[in-house]
Amino acid sequence: MDTTHTQTKEATTKEAMDNKPGVASSNSDSKNIDPSKWGITEHVATLKASIIREMLKYSRMPGIISFAGGLPAPEMFPLEDLKASCDSIIDKYGANSMQYSLSMGIAPLREAIAERSNKRGIISSADNILITSGAQQALEMIARAFIDPGDVIITEYPTYVGAIQAFNYHRAKYEFVPLDDDGMRVDLLEEKIKQSHPKLIYVVSTYQNPSGKTMSLERRHKLVEIATRYNIPIVDDDPYSELRFNGEPITSLKALGGDIVITLGTFSKLLAPGLRIGWINGPKEVMPLFERVKQVSDLHANTFAQYMIYDYLDRGLLEGHIDDIRADYSAKRDLMIKAIEEHFPSSITITHPEGGLFLWCELPEGSDAHKLLEYAVEEKVTYVIGQAFHPDGGGKNTFRLNFSNANHETIVEGIKRLGRMFAKRLPS
Ligand SMILES: Cc1ncc(COP(=O)(O)O)c(C=O)c1O
Repeated sequence: MDTTHTQTKEATTKEAMDNKPGVASSNSDSKNIDPSKWGITEHVATLKASIIREMLKYSRMPGIISFAGGLPAPEMFPLEDLKASCDSIIDKYGANSMQYSLSMGIAPLREAIAERSNKRGIISSADNILITSGAQQALEMIARAFIDPGDVIITEYPTYVGAIQAFNYHRAKYEFVPLDDDGMRVDLLEEKIKQSHPKLIYVVSTYQNPSGKTMSLERRHKLVEIATRYNIPIVDDDPYSELRFNGEPITSLKALGGDIVITLGTFSKLLAPGLRIGWINGPKEVMPLFERVKQVSDLHANTFAQYMIYDYLDRGLLEGHIDDIRADYSAKRDLMIKAIEEHFPSSITITHPEGGLFLWCELPEGSDAHKLLEYAVEEKVTYVIGQAFHPDGGGKNTFRLNFSNANHETIVEGIKRLGRMFAKRLPS
């Protein structure tokens, strides 16, 4: 399916801004200067503001309970320990902690990430790791490296909206493979590959954003087998696999597939997203390519944040911290599911993810989650409409709920309010 937007080259800054609320054009004293008429690239003219970031404006309304963003719980940020790491790295590394550093990332952090990966069965060394400014940058870098306009990427359906945004910028086209409870319907994959000759297969294999679903081991084997046979790289975007609440850990795609898989990791959900530190774990042959792309993007990731995270890891604090987050989010997931069972009409179905941050909800066929969102906002609650994750405009009757960010009291209150609204608005 082609979701590439077609717009003419005559696009102006004003047209693009009209599509992007919150950006104000500046006043100028000179009559000759009119920034709204400056010609801009088609890449930017066709760029749509992320629906999720748009939704965050509701989150700032007073009294609103937001289940919309994918924000970690702020009270779980280990502020005191991070503060100690700040002091310690200034003492230990002095000016180096503030200096330009390598585009691949600082060596000790890359080594520490490789070591953690090895413990999870992913054979890696520092040479396989490039530090990025979050996994979002990694997605865009991968598109820069592999996608010419019109190239096809196979994705799950639904899929992560931020990836689509990054891929759209490079005018990718898509083939979608639907999900069921065992993840991507890999049985449909080969046919799609034969038809569309994709450059990449993009998946969020574990506790997927948005659906919370996880690809079964059998499907992982099959996916790796097919991708290897056709020599098509799998990009496994993996912010969530360490946030497991119950069930057995499933061997990662990269542990199964080795060099056919490029895994993206991030400290956003394990530590704090504001640090903006993630990584690419890829085959040694392609890392110099990513290194050059990174240089073009921003030279290197934030040196200070890299040292800070390295110090935190070196003090052995991360594993215990992840246990704490898992306990906190697991309790919140249970609470939200219990409240939904009590307050939502039984015609709404939800997923029961074993980890991650999200529940995925389906309203009865024919319902419109977007329309209902207006009523939800009247009740001062928000969610993200499922259409955001269906680049072809599908999934009208679906929506995503985040359970990590709100506290217990607001989870129950927000679900009660939503339940009241649904009971009133949905056919009984
Ligand atoms: C699947 C997925 N990939 C990437 C990201 C971006 O993560 P980061 O904060 O590391 O850029 C997110 C954030 O929610 C995500 O859910």
